[in-house]
Amino acid sequence: MRVLGIETSCDETAAAVVEDGRRALSDVVATQIEIHRRFGGVVPELASRNHVVQVMPVIDQALSSAGGPGAIDAIAVTSGPGLVGALLVGVQVAKALAQAWEKPLVGVNHLEGHLLAAFLGETPPGFPFLGLVVSGGHTSLYLARGFGDYRLLGRTRDDAAGEAFDKGAKLLGLPYPGGVAIDQLARGGDRLAVKFPRAVVKGADLDFSFSGLKTALLHRVQKHGVPEGQGLADLCASYQEAIVGALVHKAFRAARRFQLPRLVLAGGVAANSRLRAAAVEQAAEYDDLEVIVPPVKLCTDNAAMIAVAGTHALERGLRAGADLNADPAWRLQ
Ligand code: KG4
Ligand code: ZN
Repeated sequence: MRVLGIETSCDETAAAVVEDGRRALSDVVATQIEIHRRFGGVVPELASRNHVVQVMPVIDQALSSAGGPGAIDAIAVTSGPGLVGALLVGVQVAKALAQAWEKPLVGVNHLEGHLLAAFLGETPPGFPFLGLVVSGGHTSLYLARGFGDYRLLGRTRDDAAGEAFDKGAKLLGLPYPGGVAIDQLARGGDRLAVKFPRAVVKGADLDFSFSGLKTALLHRVQKHGVPEGQGLADLCASYQEAIVGALVHKAFRAARRFQLPRLVLAGGVAANSRLRAAAVEQAAEYDDLEVIVPPVKLCTDNAAMIAVAGTHALERGLRAGADLNADPAWRLQ
């Protein structure tokens, strides 16, 4: 089965064609980063307007390198969660194309897309696995028992990990998206230079909290200003280590508690070089726990992952009708 995936939930306009939920025949991503950078974050209305401009050329490009519309069997589109105006662009285009081409259509949860992105990698995970989904809007631990069978084990109580990176970077005067800027600067820094608090979430030890960390950085900057040179690199490395430390600690705790043989990293923050290395280092301490770290391109927003989730949803018999709508707060299970 060949599925066209369409993704417009945030600031990337993306389309891809995936065969049998495993092989991306095309994978096109048009990013709006430059448009939002001068505002220091994603401006929802600008995102919608740019999706309207980009979505057809991006779909055309994805189809042209995969045999054209005649070569696809179905369409999958992100219908939530995300920015409502941005989601509506993809949903409306997908409905129109599905009707015009007489193809089945399915709405996909963006988080399920992230969870299943690893199936496009070299070593697709077997079930069950523990999925750490870390993005700009979400930080969640899922027990994945099969396609469409997910249980939320833990989540953030306040900021998402990506938000902690982005807001921290903003405080330090670094460009959007802050995660990338901090990752780069941190490479030359000392992770142990500054001690940041590690949050304890009472009564829910698989939940995360990052707002205290952000406040600690704010207080430090108010007191000492933003350092330059090596000081800035050290501060970035220490701040990053506090985020990554919490993610790795809780992900492994959950994997052990539920006796899961593998951990899959997913979402934009899984592009972080320190998180990728720390997860692998930690896994080396166990001989029965494998870590799957998909290529960076599969971690950040893309439409191939939406096509993968859509393929399995279609196989389970799910179909969307002409009344498919955006669901900006759609929870995964
Ligand atoms: O999954 P994603 O592309 O979009 C959402 O669904 O939110 O994730 C975007 C988030 C942003 O917060 C961005 O700063 C973060 O992923 N990010 C990173 C890195 N690359 C992207 N965070 C840390 N290190 C990175 N290398
Ligand atoms: Zn995402």
